[in-house]
This record gives sequence, structure tokens and C-alpha cells, in this order.
Amino acid sequence: MNRTKPLGVFDSGIGGLTIVKALKKILPNEDIVYFGDTARVPYGTKSPATITQFAMQNTKFLIDRNVKMIIVACHSVSSVCLDDLKKTFDLPIIGVIEPGAKAAVKASKNKRVGVIGTRATILSGAYERAIKKLSKEIEIVAKATPLFVPLVEEGWANNPISYLIAKTYLATMIQEKIDTLLLGCTHYPLLKTTISKIFRNRVKIVDASAETVLETKAILEKNNLNNTGKKKPSMRFYLSDITPNFSEIGQRFLGSNLDEVFRASLSE
Ligand code: DGL
Repeated sequence: MNRTKPLGVFDSGIGGLTIVKALKKILPNEDIVYFGDTARVPYGTKSPATITQFAMQNTKFLIDRNVKMIIVACHSVSSVCLDDLKKTFDLPIIGVIEPGAKAAVKASKNKRVGVIGTRATILSGAYERAIKKLSKEIEIVAKATPLFVPLVEEGWANNPISYLIAKTYLATMIQEKIDTLLLGCTHYPLLKTTISKIFRNRVKIVDASAETVLETKAILEKNNLNNTGKKKPSMRFYLSDITPNFSEIGQRFLGSNLDEVFRASLSE
């Protein structure tokens, strides 16, 4: 039965566990297979051609694990090649850009939205296109904030160094009087407290995970793919490298331990 197959989620690394956390809450019956490309992270600094090549391999890996649908948790991949994945593979695939754009448009009252992400995400212009498609009136201030990724991985999200870096990156956003900031990267939800302080809590901070999972739920229901079973769902985590600090970083994103972790070889 297709309904009982797992959902596939992939990211360049472990940050996509923010999506798994939201899945556990909103779709608690679903089994999950997660793939994190820890051997090749970061993607946000790489070219569209390389990101596309990696994303194709990751999708194929999850399809070989018999998933019924794929959530591309990585904003860099979703920005650069979601349409290529959809054209290549014959199963529902959802990215994080459209759900995030939708949430930001809903949240903004003064129609001035800031978007931050990796270089690959911001250079692609994907968020601007998605937001403009929903509302032509919105002014967008986009900025690549690549240093946020290693800061979060180092566990420094809430320390004075992150505050100073965030203040420098976000100065233009304050000048431009945005009222909503879209977090266009898997890692940034962990910086919410620091970022809020910079805007003195006057800006709405939008993260795409909840909206992405709500859309996933709608797609599953529409295609009669939602798991209605009552058994305890399973979660399997495949990583392309078992890095020394994966479990500590994973805990930070997931809010609980990663139990079933396997080393994945993409050439298998
Ligand atoms: N997962 C990536 C993203 O959301 C961030 C880390 C990376 O650069 O690979 O864009």
C-alpha cells in the first residue's frame, strides 16, 4: 500500500531536521526516511550545476528507499533545481520556497519583506519570484548571510558574536523598514532569538518548515497517500558521512536524539 510507505526528506546536511521536527508534530503517523549529505555540505557556496547534480543523486537515493513523496528541506536545492527534480522523477516532490513565500506574504502588513539565505539561494532569485507571483506590491530586500550556517553548527546561535554578525548583515533590513523577515535557510530558525533582538522584537520572523509540512499534508490527502495507521512511526536517518559532531548538531535541530542512523553510500 502506498499510504504506508515512508516520506523522504533530504538536505545538504543535518539542518533539514527542522522539517522532520515539524513533520513529527503535524503528521505524526508518517514514517520518515531522512538523507543528509554530510559528506558534501555546504551546498550554499556551490554552483547551480553542482547543486543540481547532488540533488538528483539524493532524490534517487530516497526513491530507492521506496518513499511515497519527497520533501526537499534544503533552501539552496529548492531555489536552484526543484523544477528539474519534478521533471525528472515521477512522485510528488515539494520544496520550501513556495511555502515560505506564502507564509511571508501572509505575515507582512507594510508589504516590505526581508529574505536571508545562502549565496546560492539569494543569487537564484527564487524567493523574489515566488513572492512576486503571490503579490506584485511587495518590496523585497534580499541578503546572503552565509556565516550564519557555521555559527549555528558551532552552537553559537545565541552568543554575542552571532549578535554582532547578525547586526552587520541585517542593518539594511532595518533601514528599509521591513516588517517581516523570511528565514530562507534550514539553519536560521535556530537564530530566531538573536535576530529578534536586533529588530527589538518588532519584525515577524517567518520560517518555512511549518507551512511546508502543512502543504505536504494537503498533497498526501489529495493523493490518498496519508498514513492513517496507528502504529508507532519509524524514523531512519541516512548520512553520507558519519561526522564526529553529527549527533550533537542533530539534537540541536531535532530537539531529540537521532536513533536509527546509517552511513549512506550514494554509489550503491
Ligand atoms: N541546507 C542549506 C540551505 O538551506 C544550508 C547549508 C548549506 O549551505 O548546505 O540552504
